[in-house]
Amino acid sequence: MKEKLLEKFRSIFGREAEKVFFAPGRVNLIGEHTDYNGGHVFPCALTIGTYAAAAKNRGGMLRFFSMNFEQKGIITADITDLRNEKEHDWANYPKGVLKVMLDAGYAIPCGMDILYYGNIPNSSGLSSSASVEVLTGYALRELFGLDADFVELAKIGQKAENEFIGVNCGIMDQFAIAMGKKEHAIFLDTADLSYQYAPLVLGDAKLVIACSNKKRGLGDSKYNERRSECEAALAKLQTVLDIRSLGDLTEEEFEANRAVIKDAVKERRAKHAVYENQRTIRAVAALQANNIGEFGRLMTASHNSLRDDYEVTGIELDTLVEAALAQEGVIGSRMTGAGFGGCTVSIVRADRVEEFIRSVGEVYINRIGYKADFYVVDAGSGPCTL
Ligand code: GLA
Repeated sequence: MKEKLLEKFRSIFGREAEKVFFAPGRVNLIGEHTDYNGGHVFPCALTIGTYAAAAKNRGGMLRFFSMNFEQKGIITADITDLRNEKEHDWANYPKGVLKVMLDAGYAIPCGMDILYYGNIPNSSGLSSSASVEVLTGYALRELFGLDADFVELAKIGQKAENEFIGVNCGIMDQFAIAMGKKEHAIFLDTADLSYQYAPLVLGDAKLVIACSNKKRGLGDSKYNERRSECEAALAKLQTVLDIRSLGDLTEEEFEANRAVIKDAVKERRAKHAVYENQRTIRAVAALQANNIGEFGRLMTASHNSLRDDYEVTGIELDTLVEAALAQEGVIGSRMTGAGFGGCTVSIVRADRVEEFIRSVGEVYINRIGYKADFYVVDAGSGPCTL
């Protein structure tokens, strides 16, 4: 991979790259739409992700190239004038990271040439954009000798997404990518960013991702809409409870006070946030007690809540989960990421994986009309220099 990137860099920019970097994608096992509600999440980094070859240049220009969007050619931006420009498309993600780092006072005194290549399916809910963000921050840190630790790189990525891209996401994706650890998932409390690594011991089972190939489209605006619905429900609850976020509530406390929200839709959104947070805490305890069956049941309960109360699944993801649960050897299955398309994650007994892919794939294409893609994945590490 390194050679391939170095060679492509040479042919695109006509010079040598200084270094080659990697940052993973992520999959969230449980704890969905809890990260902007002060709740817990349980994602892991993947071994697939994004690569970049980069070199500083003498001027103040940034030159970006992606092997995934070759037709867009080299995208050029002035380091002193970084704005979100529609025609810059994917390059707005790295531009956003540069802008946030420059505004924060990081010394980036000249431009750079940088070439990206990713093997995460785009718009799949496996965080290809957060992977590019964290990778860019890491590349800048390594090229310019900047003093930013990995948690800081995660925060920078999130800020770029919030302020430069305009998606009000939480910290989960960037944190999971920056802090990834081989064969472990990360139990993160988004209220204070305290975290714990949990060994991802699945016995004789595998993690299988099914990509619906339904692109998110309107997803980003719906995402912001869900977030405001939760904020509105929280504001109502705060009139009677001393809480900072929905993540502060147990199910019982929520049930005793939910009537104050006075809006059926917002009540369901808040219910999901509260119950999902508690489910996540319980799921991690189950995994640590080696009770994978219970972990799987909680994953499936998470999907049902995302379908019925949070309403972010849709026919494609529901079909994948339904078909998965009908298979022998499936321990749990749910959508992962923001929803509205993207992927599901299932825990499947190793000896049933082949049959799972065949059967679920067949049900999907028959009902939806186009195919799903499947990946058997492992938990990988955070950013590195190759
Ligand atoms: C997206 C966001 C995350 C998180 C998930 C839903 O991936 O980027 O911050 O909110 O959706 O859990």
